[in-house]
Amino acid sequence: MAFESLTKILDHKIIPVVAIHDAGDALPLADALIRGGLPCAEITFRTAAAAGAIEAIAKRGDIDVGAGTVLKVEQVQQAVDAGATFIVAPGFNPKVVAYCIDNGIPVTPGVSNPTDIEMALDFGLEILKFFPAEAFGGLKTLKAMSAPYTMMRFIPTGGIGPGNVLDYLKHPKVAACGGSWMVKSDLIAAGQFERITELTREAVAIAAQARPAAS
Ligand code: 3PG
Repeated sequence: MAFESLTKILDHKIIPVVAIHDAGDALPLADALIRGGLPCAEITFRTAAAAGAIEAIAKRGDIDVGAGTVLKVEQVQQAVDAGATFIVAPGFNPKVVAYCIDNGIPVTPGVSNPTDIEMALDFGLEILKFFPAEAFGGLKTLKAMSAPYTMMRFIPTGGIGPGNVLDYLKHPKVAACGGSWMVKSDLIAAGQFERITELTREAVAIAAQARPAAS
C-alpha cells in the first residue's frame, strides 16, 4: 500500500520525533525546524500537549506534521482531527493499523522482528518503523531481518543520532530515519530554539550525503 503523503514525508529522510510539554512551544519549534531546513515533525502522544501542538503546527500549512506513540484508535482520531497527516506507533497494534487503512490514513507501525513484519505484510503495508533500532541490534539486525522482505522499507528509530544516521540512510531498505536528537524535550522546554535549528541543520547536511531521497 503506497500512501502518497507518506512518500512526501520520506523525502525529508529524517523525521524529528518530538515530545512537547507545552503546546505554546509548538510554533517556535516549527519555526526552528523550518529554519534548519527540515519542515517535518512527529509529535508524540507521550504528553498531554500533543494534540494541541499538532493543531498549532498543522494550521501553519508549511510543515508536515504527524502523530507518534499512537497506541489506540481514539488517539488516531484525535491526531487526525488536530491535523496530523501520518500516524506512527512504537509497536504493531492491528486495531490501530486497520483503522488507519480503512480511513486512508498513512500509518507506519513499529516492528522489531520477522513476525511483526509478516503481520504488516498481511495489511499490505510497505513502510514500517524499526523500533527501537539501536537497542535491537541496529543496522546489522535490519540488514538480516529485512532480507527476505524485498518489498519492505523501514524507518529506523531509537538511538539514532549524528554519529550513525548516515550509515542507516545509505542502506537501500531504509526509507528515512526517526530521532529526537535535534528536538530534545529539554531544549524545547528551555526555549533553546536556536540550538534546535543548529542541530537540525547539521542533521539535514548529514542526510544530504546519503543517496537521493527515497520515493
Ligand atoms: C521514539 O519515540 O520513536 C523514540 O523515542 C525516538 O528515539 P530516540 O529518542 O532515541 O531518538
